[in-house]
Amino acid sequence: MTSISIVGAGTMARVLATRALAGGNTVEIIGRDAAKAAALAGELGGGATAGTTASAPAGDIVILAVPYASAAPVVSHYGDALSGKVIVDITNAFSPSATGLVTPDGTSGAEEIAKAAPASARVVKAFNTIFGNVLAQGHPLDVFIAGDDAQAKASTSAFIESMGLRPLDTGDLKMAHWLEGAGLLVMGLARHGVGNFSFSLGVNTG
Ligand SMILES: NC(=O)c1ccc[n+]([C@@H]2O[C@H](COP(=O)([O-])OP(=O)(O)OC[C@H]3O[C@@H](n4cnc5c(N)ncnc54)[C@H](OP(=O)(O)O)[C@@H]3O)[C@@H](O)[C@H]2O)c1
Repeated sequence: MTSISIVGAGTMARVLATRALAGGNTVEIIGRDAAKAAALAGELGGGATAGTTASAPAGDIVILAVPYASAAPVVSHYGDALSGKVIVDITNAFSPSATGLVTPDGTSGAEEIAKAAPASARVVKAFNTIFGNVLAQGHPLDVFIAGDDAQAKASTSAFIESMGLRPLDTGDLKMAHWLEGAGLLVMGLARHGVGNFSFSLGVNTG
């Protein structure tokens, strides 16, 4: 059982919270709109609580379920309140057309977020290649992760497994750049070769 704080009260917050609760974790929903966060926590049930951006996140793992543009500002806002925590970055830093990334060449959104975090917080990239509607179906899926800290990846992996999902480690946080590229890949597949948003990327190990 892991204590999870989710910043954001939108699509991904709802889906991740639902699966996290089903996996026996505790969940706190933190919204900039306190009423919206409280409403979502109430709908989720399972002991989910609501926090506001004015108080420190309670969870050992803090999931940033906000648009990329808000992610580093949220982390900066919390500052030292995130010391020692695992920050899970699920964001996709897409350009408006979702055919490119807004992050500078040679870096990633996750690395930019890490720059805003206190030194003792550990950032793990995860979930960005999975469509929320697919995650909501409750099936087992592969979750690609990247991060520099082995312990943070281990606790994120344990959390992912608790949700009935398979964590697959892709390497250090620099690999987040390629996971963010894979986010574009799934958008391209959805719009072209697959033709819908009801699929996921996974690894067959035969
Ligand atoms: N949807 C998907 O299928 C999917 C898949 C993989 C990754 N992602 C990534 O997941 C993240 C969330 O996506 P989503 O689909 O859940 O978006 P969403 O439904 O638009 O929800 C975003 C949430 O972020 C909140 N928010 C925005 N700025 C904030 C701030 N400064 N402080 C606190 N909360 C803030 C919004 O608050 P309000 O409710 O007050 O507007 C909203 O609740 C994005 O980075 C996206 O790229 C999405």
